[in-house]
Amino acid sequence: MLGRTAGNHGPSMMQRVSLGLVPLVAALLTVTTFFRMQLLDHLSWLKGPEDRSSDSCPPGHFRLGGMKDCLSWLSCEMIQSEVTVTELIGQGAVKQVFLAHWRGNKVALSRLAVAEFGDDFFHGLEMLKGLQSPYVVKLLGYCEEDHTILTEYHPFGSLINVNSVLEQEGHRGFNTWKLRFRLAVDYVMFLLYLHNSPLGPRVMCDSNDLRKSLSQYLLTTELRVIANDLDALPLVNRSAGVLVKCGARQLQGDFVAPEQLWPFGDSLPFSDDLMPPYDEKTDMWKVPDVTDFLLGQVEGSDVVRLHLFQLHQDCKRTKAQQRPSALMVVQTYKAVYTSLAQESEPFATYSERVRDL
Ligand SMILES: Nc1ncnc2c1ncn2[C@@H]1O[C@H](COP(=O)(O)OP(=O)(O)O)[C@@H](O)[C@H]1O
Ligand SMILES: [Mg+2]
Repeated sequence: MLGRTAGNHGPSMMQRVSLGLVPLVAALLTVTTFFRMQLLDHLSWLKGPEDRSSDSCPPGHFRLGGMKDCLSWLSCEMIQSEVTVTELIGQGAVKQVFLAHWRGNKVALSRLAVAEFGDDFFHGLEMLKGLQSPYVVKLLGYCEEDHTILTEYHPFGSLINVNSVLEQEGHRGFNTWKLRFRLAVDYVMFLLYLHNSPLGPRVMCDSNDLRKSLSQYLLTTELRVIANDLDALPLVNRSAGVLVKCGARQLQGDFVAPEQLWPFGDSLPFSDDLMPPYDEKTDMWKVPDVTDFLLGQVEGSDVVRLHLFQLHQDCKRTKAQQRPSALMVVQTYKAVYTSLAQESEPFATYSERVRDL
């Protein structure tokens, strides 16, 4: 067995000095980011991917690529007579998801898989109806009696697949810090939308570990992120003093926010009645882990990590109210993206650099 010596274990002096510099560099980067944000606040692109909604339709209607007019959401009769189901493409706790065909289009048909989760299924349907926007999968129809929901099909599937998709022949050119950072921007933009949604501030509860969180989002063929599974979005009604709990079971682990853990130790058995509620800042706790996964290991992703170091430390504050809001995170991400894009493409015009955001 090898003996431990001070010389070959633990960081060297150089490593200690450079490790100690990380917070200092991060603090400096944070200050410069703050000033850039002041400037960006006045610029229109900060508003987000609304141009993705160029195919938007009136409420209760949809249009798929290639369709000239908007159609109203398909009814039970239309789903039963016009949709043919082919193969199972996904399964979560609540739904089975099938690839299906409708009038020459590939579509996704979700069916309630476990009868006892009917409430979650219908909650998800209500959320899909009310949160139709560029950040959410397109609803094409539903049939409450049959427990089916029809949505746009996205062949790359859930965000869990991002690494394998970007490593595919033909996509490798997109496997860059820029594209990956943009995915993280999409994800925090959805949280910003969710926390200020037309249905009130809501929490993305179906997110107790990284895989679970990623599985609720889809990667589109345009390499954007959209939210898909909205089955657990409880409402925070702050003025009425109503906070939320993500389910009635005890949660464990580092991925969930500290306020989601049972606070009374082992001596008192878990009881949902005694478990204190919390708010949407649980989503902000999870942002660094999701973004870290999305950034992956490509050239430049560590530079992005360094620029986000202080912000992500703030997301991990134990006191929920001290964590940054989704707006703060979106603004900082966009400011860092723009500045790094500027450094990497000094000759591009401003609008070329921010066009993709
Ligand atoms: N529109 C879609 N296009 C492609 N894959 C989908 C689509 N909807 C769902 N899936 C796949 O099915 C999985 C389960 O769907 P989800 O809505 O999260 O079900 P559950 O509510 O049971 O968790 C997703 O993680 C994804 O892999
Ligand atoms: Mg799911």
